[in-house]
Amino acid sequence: MLSRYFKPSLLKRIAAGAGTPVYVYSRAVFLRQIAAYKKAFRSLDPLFCYAMKSNSSRALCALAAREGWGADVVSGGELYRALKAGFAPPKIIFSGVGKTPEELEFALKTGILFVNAESFEEVLELERAAAKLKTRAPLSLRLNPDVEPHTHKYITTGRLGSKFGVTFEEARKIYLYAAESDYLEPVGAQFHIGSQVHSPAPYALAARRLAAFILQLASSGVRLKYADVGGGWGVKEGSEMSDPAPLARAVAGVFSGTGLRVILEPGRSVSAPSGVLLTRVVYRKRGGHKNFLIVDAAMNDLIRPALYGARHPVALVGPGRGPEKLYDIVGAVCETGDFLAEGARLREPAAGRLLAVYSAGAYGFSMSSQYNSRPRAAEVLITGPSSWRLIRRRETYKDLVAAEMK
Ligand code: LLP
Repeated sequence: MLSRYFKPSLLKRIAAGAGTPVYVYSRAVFLRQIAAYKKAFRSLDPLFCYAMKSNSSRALCALAAREGWGADVVSGGELYRALKAGFAPPKIIFSGVGKTPEELEFALKTGILFVNAESFEEVLELERAAAKLKTRAPLSLRLNPDVEPHTHKYITTGRLGSKFGVTFEEARKIYLYAAESDYLEPVGAQFHIGSQVHSPAPYALAARRLAAFILQLASSGVRLKYADVGGGWGVKEGSEMSDPAPLARAVAGVFSGTGLRVILEPGRSVSAPSGVLLTRVVYRKRGGHKNFLIVDAAMNDLIRPALYGARHPVALVGPGRGPEKLYDIVGAVCETGDFLAEGARLREPAAGRLLAVYSAGAYGFSMSSQYNSRPRAAEVLITGPSSWRLIRRRETYKDLVAAEMK
């Protein structure tokens, strides 16, 4: 299953041509995942806004844009990238807890669909920006539905006490204020309960709370058009598909027939299965009772194992020899937390062998850094059964110092 889209012979050619470490994405998997979303949600005909934070590579974003998807951006930089990738401004939404006045102005000048604001102070800032530009700002509020998504605490976002969103009570006051403003137009309401969520139940619960709130607001004279249920649908690590059908049933069960346009913000479930991180074994060694494989990728390339304890399956590219053993797969960064996998079961690879780290298409490259002055990895897109192209060149030592001044 794992190697169907990432054939060993092709991965070897990519490593030879582009070097390692390299992120390798499959166009076919990315498009298949988009198709699965469209199919599962066809009765609702929602607007899909791809969460660019999961993977903002221009080549992948351009694929999503060509499929008619919009973008969920969380910074001025992501908005800039979204425009470069070809997303249509009326399909772009802007989320995030700390948008600056400059970012809000940029969004209004661009003519995006709406801003998902997260506090009353932000709404006032948005109003000021709209007044300055003599326009009306399309406003949505991120609501905190207080549901438990059962995921890692760092990516749980819809519980009271998290920094995200506003309470329903607060939101009601803000919408009533916005409805009176010459420069604000309340158009939507949103929630995002967390990431790597595997059960549809918390979505159904949050959606019911959102729908009831929107209905109640309408009876006070504020009619919204959009119900945005965020992203966060999970991926089984190592699988090449994430099935959005259970999520679709939960969301459609609440919003079908309401006349509201549903918006989704999927990121990981589209991009994670689409990518592997290809790395080469540099050395082998034993430390105490452990076998270590020291590879040329490290926590600066893929921080998820260190930060969230994420378990990405690692496979030898091509056949192995001898019995399987357990290996800790570690990088060259000077930290004990620098590991890509702990206790991965592999046949013994010789130095120089390639390893593929799966489910690395989301929050891999986009969270990478130059820590330890390691130039960031290259990115490659597989475009056909045996064809690929470079979509981001490997950074150089010169790139490391390019922005610095004496
Ligand atoms: N919409 C909003 C407002 C979000 O905050 C996020 C993710 C998404 C959509 C997309 O969620 P997705 O479908 O990708 O789960 N770095 C972490 C994940 C952080 C997610 C942050 N927000 C990780 O590597 O697991």
